[in-house]
Amino acid sequence: MGNSFSRYEARAQKKLEMLGGGFTLLAIESSCDETAAAVLKGARDVVSTSVHTQIPIHQKYGGVVPEIASRSHVERIGSVVSDALEKAGVGFSDIDAIAVTYGPGLVGALLVGVSYAKGLALSLGVPLAGVNHIAGHIAANYITHKELEPPFVCLVASGGHSHILHVKDYMSFELLGCTRDDAAGEAFDKAARVLGLSYPGGPLLEKLAAGGDKNAYRLHTGFNTTQSLDFSFSGIKTAVINIIHNAEQKGEAINRADVAASFQSAVVETLCDKSVRACMIAGVDKLVLAGGVSANKALRSRLEECAKAYGLSFYCPEFKYCTDNAAMIGCAGYYALMRGCRSDLSLNAEPALRL
Ligand code: KG4
Ligand code: ZN
Repeated sequence: MGNSFSRYEARAQKKLEMLGGGFTLLAIESSCDETAAAVLKGARDVVSTSVHTQIPIHQKYGGVVPEIASRSHVERIGSVVSDALEKAGVGFSDIDAIAVTYGPGLVGALLVGVSYAKGLALSLGVPLAGVNHIAGHIAANYITHKELEPPFVCLVASGGHSHILHVKDYMSFELLGCTRDDAAGEAFDKAARVLGLSYPGGPLLEKLAAGGDKNAYRLHTGFNTTQSLDFSFSGIKTAVINIIHNAEQKGEAINRADVAASFQSAVVETLCDKSVRACMIAGVDKLVLAGGVSANKALRSRLEECAKAYGLSFYCPEFKYCTDNAAMIGCAGYYALMRGCRSDLSLNAEPALRL
C-alpha cells in the first residue's frame, strides 16, 4: 500500500498542476438519504447530474433509518456514477478530479461515498477533495448565480443544520448563529408528522400552510427576543404537538392548515429577522439562502422582501439545487482544489464535521 499510495500522491499532484482550472470533475454525495453524482466542467458549469432518492424506502418508518440508508448507497453508488458519466458523454478516463462529501452526516452513509471516491481516485491517479456538506449547500448558489462571490452572509437551513454564517471567502467561514436544538428542516418534519403528513414533511407542510391562516395561532420560536443570532425550534415543535394532542383529547376539530401556516410563519420570521441582523453585524450587503429548507417559497419570498427593505441583494439556489445533490459538492470541491486543499487516501467519514 505504501508504494502505490505515494505513486498515487505524486500522479495526483502532477495532474492538478497541469490542469490549471478547467478540469472535468466528478462529484459524489451520500451523506443522508440521496445517492448523487454530478459531472462539472470548471467550478460552476454542471454537465450532468444523477440522483437516487431513498425517500420512498424511509417513508414507511417516518424518517431516515441509517443502516438501511448505508445499504442502499452501496447498492446504488456504482450505477448513479455511471449514469452521471453517461449523461455527460464522458468516461472514467476523462475525469480529472473527484470531490466527495466526507461530513457532516450519517457515518455509514458517508463511508460509502468516501470509500468509493478514494478507490476511484487511486485507480485513476486523479486528485481528491473531501467536501464539507454545508460548504456544498452554500456553493449551490454559485452554480445558480454565476456572478456571486464572497463575502456574504448565508443562512443554511436544512434537515440536519441551521446556521447563519459569514462567508468571508470560498473556504473561510465564521459562524454567527446557529440552532440550539432542532434544525429548521427537522422542526418542519416533526411538526408535519404530528399533522399527519408523511416524511419528509417540510414540503407537505408548506402545501398545507398555503390554505391556512398564519395568524390563527400565536406560536413563537425560542431566542427570538434576544440579541443573540442563535435560534431554537424545539419549543415551537412541542407547541404544535400540544395543540394537536389537546384537541384530540377534547374531541375538538382542528384546522390543520391554520396550525401549519402559523408554525411556518413563526419559523420564517425568526430566520429572516436573524439573517438580516447578521448582515448588519457582519457589514455585508449580500444575503444568501441555502439548504433543503431554501426550497420553501414562503421563506424565499419573505427573506427577499426583508433583504430588499434593508438594501441587501438576495440570492437563493434554483429549486433543483436546494436539497441534497452532488453538483453543489463538485462546485465546493473545485474551489478547495484550486486553493490547494487536496485530500489524501487517509480521508475518513466525519459525521460531526464542522465548517
Ligand atoms: O439539505 P437537505 O436535503 O438535507 C440535509 O442536509 O438535511 O434538507 C432536507 C430538509 C428536510 O427536513 C425537508 O423537510 C426540508 O429540507 N425541506 C423543506 C422544504 N423542502 C425540503 N422544508 C420546508 N419547506 C420546503 N419546501
Ligand atoms: Zn443537505
